[in-house]
Amino acid sequence: MKGDIKLQENEIIEYVKNHLSEKRFNHSVGVMERAGELAKIYKEDVNSARKVGIAHDIAKEFSKQESLKYIKENNIKVDKVELINTNLLHGKIGADIAKKIFGFTGKMCEAIKVHTTGAENMSMLSKILYVADKTELGRKNIEYERNLADKDINKALLYMIDETIKLNIDRNRQIHPDSILARNYLLENI
Ligand SMILES: [Fe+2]
Ligand SMILES: [Fe+2]
Repeated sequence: MKGDIKLQENEIIEYVKNHLSEKRFNHSVGVMERAGELAKIYKEDVNSARKVGIAHDIAKEFSKQESLKYIKENNIKVDKVELINTNLLHGKIGADIAKKIFGFTGKMCEAIKVHTTGAENMSMLSKILYVADKTELGRKNIEYERNLADKDINKALLYMIDETIKLNIDRNRQIHPDSILARNYLLENI
């Protein structure tokens, strides 16, 4: 019955392994482990954190055409910035796949949805995924970010959103409005 699907962690790992390149799969395993660590530190559900970690990039290797086809067929609402910068779409598409195929809860899907841009007033699970994605063990030279993440997840999140915004400016890319909203919210609340 629809709505009753709820895949176990090992089943999700298997699915992700079969749908991503080896490199992206290894990154996803790294994010799963790191999200579990952060969930322990910040007293969030470790099982949910690990599951969003392994699943977060499930749509990352879709081509532009595949992404556009998916959002059309599944009635996913997207904005202008996402249509121009189609790489951003893997958050929303990944969240939809996580709901329909893995049986994730709304909160878990939301974390996957916003891992590309950040969002205003993110849940702890969303913060954990965003930060785990940037501080998994496979990434090199990120001691500062990793330590900051272990000490203060809000400061780490702000730092990482700032870095992403700066990179987009350097590369002459658009900045998604949700990244600005995330930044303003953090500045106001931490
Ligand atoms: Fe991603
Ligand atoms: Fe990722």
